[in-house]
Amino acid sequence: MYRRLIAPGALAASLLLAIPASAADFQPGASGIGDPYYPAYGNGGYDVSHYDLRLKYQPKTDQLEGTATILASSTQDLSRFNLDFGLTASEVRVNGKKAKFARSDVQELEVTPAAGLPKGTPFTVVVKYAGKPSDVKLWGFTSWQRTPDGGVAANEPEAAAWWFPANDHPLDKATYDVSIAVPDGTQAISNGTLQSQSSKLGWTRFNWRSAHPQATYLSTLAVGKFDITTDKTADGLPVINAYSKDLGANEGAAKASVERTTEVAEWLESVYGKYPFEALGGYVPNVPSSFALETQTRPFYSPKQFANGSNVSVVVHELAHQWYGDSVSVRGWKDIWINEGFARYAQWLWSEKEGEGTAQELADYTYAQHPADDAFWTVKPGDPGPENQFDAAVYDRGALAIQALRNKVGEKNFFAILKGWPQQHAYGNASVSDFIGYAEGVSGERLGGLFDTWLFEPSKPGASAARASADVVQPKSWKRIAATNGVHSER
Ligand code: TRP
Ligand code: ZN
Repeated sequence: MYRRLIAPGALAASLLLAIPASAADFQPGASGIGDPYYPAYGNGGYDVSHYDLRLKYQPKTDQLEGTATILASSTQDLSRFNLDFGLTASEVRVNGKKAKFARSDVQELEVTPAAGLPKGTPFTVVVKYAGKPSDVKLWGFTSWQRTPDGGVAANEPEAAAWWFPANDHPLDKATYDVSIAVPDGTQAISNGTLQSQSSKLGWTRFNWRSAHPQATYLSTLAVGKFDITTDKTADGLPVINAYSKDLGANEGAAKASVERTTEVAEWLESVYGKYPFEALGGYVPNVPSSFALETQTRPFYSPKQFANGSNVSVVVHELAHQWYGDSVSVRGWKDIWINEGFARYAQWLWSEKEGEGTAQELADYTYAQHPADDAFWTVKPGDPGPENQFDAAVYDRGALAIQALRNKVGEKNFFAILKGWPQQHAYGNASVSDFIGYAEGVSGERLGGLFDTWLFEPSKPGASAARASADVVQPKSWKRIAATNGVHSER
């Protein structure tokens, strides 16, 4: 380290001072951010504050080209750093000067600036690139879904590398300007607000802005032919929804669900506190997948979500994530329960409010569905492992844990915790143990045992949160909630 050189020492040390620090001490940033579930995801040595993506996409050929301008700051004396990226870069500049770059491993773009970057220096990276996102296979799959009229980037825990170079991990959030040109008559949807739209020489450019810190996997891009509806909430926030013109028989049910976004968000504010972002909405592209995803300010819904009619419960789930997952994000992917447990529990609370079964009834029924020898109970929602990250247990046993908390601390403390947590860690990252500590602080109760039982024991807990009686009846909301669930494990 540079500092050591100026400490009092031998004559040799003072001679070393003459050598430029960049040559002697600057080190490459790590190729992963340090998440044991996904060691290659994210990178070390710098922190991004803003992504400016200027893109052009041709639906006919699936060709995406663009320039990414990334504002970052070094967190160590940096000789070189990585971005996570699957498309092909043609030029990289750092602080305006051409940088050397090379691909390594599955998704690493190694960038060597002309000069080292001393710790704490703000710097600008420009990456020019092109490619067909659906051709790019990383880890054996593509997160880009082709549609007859375009394509969509939406996946968890990884989607960014198919459309922009990034520090691809929720620990490094940033703001976004996404500007994308598509042929006239086609639309492009992304996060946040539509700042402007203009057409020239057959191409329409859409300028989207997401103004609050946003994790890379929550950044989304959809190109296609959409019906777009716009509105304002009672608080004056813009609501922008988009529906593929090609939803067929699912169109009515999709609209009858997603058009209730404002109403659902208003209700969620009564439980989780003030809505954390500057815009709302949802979009339903004509993709073949069946999942939904909580992309920031504008969740993604597959048409199949609405194949059995409207499903407001899935809207409740994705919007609940705006507080639990998007504003307060996982510190590491092992912390997925702080997202999914609470998004599922919001569905239980919505059911309770709608008179379709109380959270307790849903807990009882969930508990009764899985006998003690069911593998369901071997998954630890508090640390499920990457292979079970989105297992039904993370959602359902995860929600049982929250019901157990409610029964232990009482209504007043419980709802104070639900509302206080998104404030406590707004726009940041937190872990399962942070949540346990927070709940203990608010309630004044020791909760280690309770959470150990419900989140970490690999066996069926005794019937304390749920009544074990065999004759529990299926709550009215069960099937709609389960529809969301089936979708998750289907992936
Ligand atoms: N987070 C999503 C939800 O709960 C579910 C999900 C898990 C997902 N893995 C995914 C969605 C992969 C899309 C792709 O709503
Ligand atoms: Zn979810």
